[in-house]
Amino acid sequence: MPSARLTIDPRSTIGPIRRRLFGGFVEHLGRHVYDGIHEPGHPTADTEGFRQDVIELVRELGVSTIRYPGGNFVSGFRWEDSVGPREERPRRLDLAWHSTETNEVGLHEFSDWLEKVGSDMMLAVNLGTRGTLEALDLLEYANIAGGTALSQQRIANGRTDAFGVKMWCLGNEMDGPWQLGHRSADDYGKLASRTAKAMRQLDPSVELVVCGSSSAHMPTFGEWERVVLSHTYEDVDYISCHAYYEEKNGDLGSFLASAVDMDGFIETVVATADHVKAVLGSDKSVNISFDEWNVWYLSRFQNVDKIEGLDNWPVAPRLLEDVYSVADAVVFGNLMISLLKHSDRVTSASLAQLVNVIAPIMTEPGGPAWRQTTFFPFSITSRLAGGEALELKLDAPTYETKEYGVVPLVDAVATHDASTGRTAVFLVNRSVEEAVTLTVDVGSLGEVSVLETHTLADDDVYAKNTLAEPTRVAPRPNDTARIDGRELTATLPPVSWTAISLG
Ligand code: AHR
Repeated sequence: MPSARLTIDPRSTIGPIRRRLFGGFVEHLGRHVYDGIHEPGHPTADTEGFRQDVIELVRELGVSTIRYPGGNFVSGFRWEDSVGPREERPRRLDLAWHSTETNEVGLHEFSDWLEKVGSDMMLAVNLGTRGTLEALDLLEYANIAGGTALSQQRIANGRTDAFGVKMWCLGNEMDGPWQLGHRSADDYGKLASRTAKAMRQLDPSVELVVCGSSSAHMPTFGEWERVVLSHTYEDVDYISCHAYYEEKNGDLGSFLASAVDMDGFIETVVATADHVKAVLGSDKSVNISFDEWNVWYLSRFQNVDKIEGLDNWPVAPRLLEDVYSVADAVVFGNLMISLLKHSDRVTSASLAQLVNVIAPIMTEPGGPAWRQTTFFPFSITSRLAGGEALELKLDAPTYETKEYGVVPLVDAVATHDASTGRTAVFLVNRSVEEAVTLTVDVGSLGEVSVLETHTLADDDVYAKNTLAEPTRVAPRPNDTARIDGRELTATLPPVSWTAISLG
């Protein structure tokens, strides 16, 4: 059996674990909002039509800030359509997803739902088909207490207190040719800079995210970040990264190493941002908002699900409803490890998405809600990771992948919370065939014991949770984990994700 060795030292800190790393994303897309979080006729629906079974699962997931309302959707969105009396709200074409948007759920309803799930709102403004003025209008509507036309309109619409939204995205994926209003880095950078300055003139406390690349594999990657940041460096707090991974051509080995790509993506964007900082002689750092990340079988959407036709604009169609396997959840858990390993510069992140649409939570209209395999690494990491992320000394065997060359068989990160004395270790074994014997030197933590262990693995790495079998896959305690003196040992099954909490 191959073996891996880790050394944990609570003094080797990377950066603080901010709650915003455990953010989510709700887009008006498919059955996310309608028939997902909102289904007035559902047996668990509350008086506002929100499914309480979904609310409970979102709370259990442990999501901090939630990005809204898109995604690609936002680039055609008129925010004014989504407020005011429901019966007067227009039905609109959503060009991004070839659907009809009824606007039955809008800004106020979404904010009410956020209060129920205990999360904060992060808003995106439309810089695709709209501009600075509309962004200012939305900011005034959302954040000004009262006494102006738009803040009074919000009050008349039933919301006395300002929404007080802190995080704002300056558009979405403006580098992507599929984006409504897609433009060059130079054009977008100028627009984003003007809009950011104007928004700060209205509310200096907002935190602004400028669009980075929609993937590290875009032909403009790198240069896009450099040019956009050259225009906006002093105006923004974050640059976004988006990344989705899927198993391609049956190459499970490469798929399991997807986090290697995410590591490189983050490090390249940090280097580019720091390059611009040096050129400008700036004394502030722009950090990363990794505001879309997940496993997504994009090729299935492109080849099977895509909706077309001049007279075919369905309401809440089944779109992007990926059903996740154990292997998907292991990759997903590894992506979270990558985010934690870069917590010095990735200071905000949003899992894309939350319900039904490439989501950890699935629902059936009139029926149950259940946890996908990916639910578990998110909820457990969100609950156990705390304090500071730690730089680990990792000695692990390697394997060869088609996509990423030679990569470590094991990936890991640990967090340590000095206030509680708790340490959490998150690990993946990427081997398709073999278990790995893990030894961790925990001597520098003092006397500790194992508080909880969770391992997600299965003899069938493609096992999934479905409507018919909603609890087929779940993590189990790892009974092999034990501490002897200064050493923690555990066995990591093939294709597995593990969390160990010590205290
Ligand atoms: O999350 C699905 C889509 O992926 C988002 O709308 C878009 O921003 C990205 O391309």
